[in-house]
Amino acid sequence: MGIDFSASRLSYEKDELIEKNIGDTPYPLLQKWIDDAISEQIGEAYAFSLATCGADRRPSVRTLLMREIVPNDGDIQMIFYTNYDSDKGRDLADNPFAEALFFWHTLERQVRASGRVVKLSTEKSEAYYHSRPKESRLAAWVSRPQSGQVESREVMESDFAKLSEQFGERIPKPEFWGGYCLLVDKIEFWQGRANRMHDRIVYHKGENGWERERILP
Ligand SMILES: Cc1cc2nc3c(=O)[nH]c(=O)nc-3n(C[C@H](O)[C@H](O)[C@H](O)COP(=O)(O)O)c2cc1C
Repeated sequence: MGIDFSASRLSYEKDELIEKNIGDTPYPLLQKWIDDAISEQIGEAYAFSLATCGADRRPSVRTLLMREIVPNDGDIQMIFYTNYDSDKGRDLADNPFAEALFFWHTLERQVRASGRVVKLSTEKSEAYYHSRPKESRLAAWVSRPQSGQVESREVMESDFAKLSEQFGERIPKPEFWGGYCLLVDKIEFWQGRANRMHDRIVYHKGENGWERERILP
């Protein structure tokens, strides 16, 4: 007996996304939707999925925590932190284009943001790294490399304890750890509607700034 979801369906009826209610640029709408997700008390409303695709042309996706979204002269920059020596890091080194996806299910909303990803400056990565709890900073050192095979949980724990002793209170940022910035040039807002007649609005960044269009569900 497998798992059969084929008869499970919800009708999405909470809101609508209509052109007259939104601006010509995407940041205000993004900010509103994030504020709504936080007010809704969605756990980790700032968690998102990051899709990448490297030279092997095999897409991969994983959950990360968004740490900052910066409006920059009408543009949107999305900042997150990770281990550069990881599958996503290798993918991004091969192909800097990626897509970030937020799904806020109680609001029946999805946002997809894509563009080029660049590394943050070492100074900015350092500042964030040192704002993290000591244990998180140590754990970053344990992951050498992130997603590399490890013999057992005990090996990880013992490495953590050794590193803690070795560094004491001053834990430097590993050079393989840091931030990325997604420079958004396309962003889609999806609002679920009844009868699968969903609202989808896409903003594209072109030479003359942002352009907005409605796309079919
Ligand atoms: C809720 C949640 C938040 C996460 N946040 C991060 C994060 O901010 N940075 C990170 O490197 N991994 C984070 N992870 C772990 C990643 O999903 C992933 O396992 C890891 O980054 C390795 O991915 P890769 O091998 O595809 O590079 C998070 C996982 C979950 C479930």
